Amino acid sequence: MPNLAQEILEETNRRRTFAIISHPDAGKTTLTEKLLLFGGAIRLAGTVKGRKANRHATSDWMEIEKQRGISVTSSVLQFEYKGYKVNILDTPGHQDFSEDTYRTLTAADCAVMLIDAAKGVEVQTKKLFQVCSKRGIPIFTFINKLDRDGRDPFDLLEELEKVLGIRSYPMNWPIGMGRSLCGIYDRRKQQVELYQGADHSKIVVEKVQGYEDEKIKQIAGEHLFEQVREELELLEVAGDSFDLEKIANGQLTPVFFGSAINNFGVQTFLENFLQLAPPPAPRHSSEGMVEPSWETFSGYVFKIQANMNPAHRDRLAFVRIVSGKFTRNMTVRHVRQGKDIKLSQPQQFLAQERDITEVAYPGDIIGLFDPGIFRIGDTLVEKGSLVYDELPTFSPEIFAKLTVKNALKHKQFQKGLDQLTEEGTVQVFRTIGFEDIILGVVGQLQFEVFEYRMKHEYQVELELQRLPYQFARWITGIDADPNKFRVNSTLVTDKNGNKVALFENEYALRSAMEKMPEANFLDTAP
Ligand code: G4P
Repeated sequence: MPNLAQEILEETNRRRTFAIISHPDAGKTTLTEKLLLFGGAIRLAGTVKGRKANRHATSDWMEIEKQRGISVTSSVLQFEYKGYKVNILDTPGHQDFSEDTYRTLTAADCAVMLIDAAKGVEVQTKKLFQVCSKRGIPIFTFINKLDRDGRDPFDLLEELEKVLGIRSYPMNWPIGMGRSLCGIYDRRKQQVELYQGADHSKIVVEKVQGYEDEKIKQIAGEHLFEQVREELELLEVAGDSFDLEKIANGQLTPVFFGSAINNFGVQTFLENFLQLAPPPAPRHSSEGMVEPSWETFSGYVFKIQANMNPAHRDRLAFVRIVSGKFTRNMTVRHVRQGKDIKLSQPQQFLAQERDITEVAYPGDIIGLFDPGIFRIGDTLVEKGSLVYDELPTFSPEIFAKLTVKNALKHKQFQKGLDQLTEEGTVQVFRTIGFEDIILGVVGQLQFEVFEYRMKHEYQVELELQRLPYQFARWITGIDADPNKFRVNSTLVTDKNGNKVALFENEYALRSAMEKMPEANFLDTAP
């Protein structure tokens, strides 16, 4: 059916699937909400305070979330804008992010890095950036909160390069900041978008003939005009040039300035972003690269979420569609289990409500009800038996020794441990010889979720004793000897029997590397 190929191609090309990476409080929720508003996905944005209260009521699925007032899980939001279909993969905003956050990034085709103009690059942004950077996906930067006094824009760009190692191309440039903010100058369109305080229901622009235009002086006043003129001149002379290829492989980040809460610069950002961002990318599989335009439906599970609705003990497996067309009720092959399954109740996600999906295309995320048959990384394919590459395991940074309070619960405990490991809630290691269980996570919250669910779903009470380790490295290339990992370190095995060394500090890691030059110290599982 040649029309099907055409349909898949057109639908793929209008899709953009991305995640917003930022440190808590940079304004991710605010920006997401504004973006959704442009797409008409939610009628009323409401104030941030109002929204926070609402979010509490709609998306909390677990006691922990209620107790701590945070959102533990990622969700997916979809909206349409000027012919584009946009998928935002939302990631937990709290400081206690988890491996789920990292894994979600593997399902995105590009990332928007949100930075608070007063704070610059913060810890969590850096970690998330590194995951994206490893994949070489395009990264777009939005520097937020221009309505407040922030750092010098050149300082911020320098920080991107020094801390993250990425060069930048400012698409627009602030004319003033905080109280003196008048607008942003669009370098490519040669126009000034005027700042009008909180009212940005409509973009007001002033066309100019370059950054030396006297009109900017009228807008900014003589002093600010001179300053901005010098800054833009410097950018022209010494800054990087606009280079689509470098943007596409993540070497150059287009930078946009604005204020999310005032809706200033957000629409301009969105429109440029949609034009520059890539459509859904092909993925690597056991049978080579799979192009989205392949007419056979295929995808992989990148996340499993439990108990979204506490009334039903359902799990939801999130599938990133890689190729073909998904239709409800279709039968696909669950390759690992070698079984055909009917996808009858797929969910799509819109502003925290779940809708039944009838059709979906590459780049889309669908949620499948999971009676316990899926694991992270599982491939689903309409016909054949290709398998997508395994998702990376991220190096945990926090460790705890686990003991079960009631030894009679051993069977229950093992069941819970297997299930929760499959969902990717925690990583499990065992000490060599004693077979003690050590849990590893990237965010403290994962321990809390693990303990909570073991208690409430499997009736097993645990004791977690924090260990001093901070780094995990998979050791390959040598037959690692536990005796060589005694000082501020220890040698354990992961779930597949690979040897992993845990280190208390960077010094211990470095000296082990020096002592064993023939060994590889990998930060993800081999
Ligand atoms: P997050 O999801 O990244 O954690 O950030 P969120 O959107 O919740 O925003 C964090 C804080 O930053 C909020 O204020 C929000 O109003 C504020 N904010 C977001 N964008 C801008 C901006 O462009 N300019 C200014 N000045 N502030 C911005 P809060 O006081 O923490 O929250 P609330 O008490 O208003 O709910």
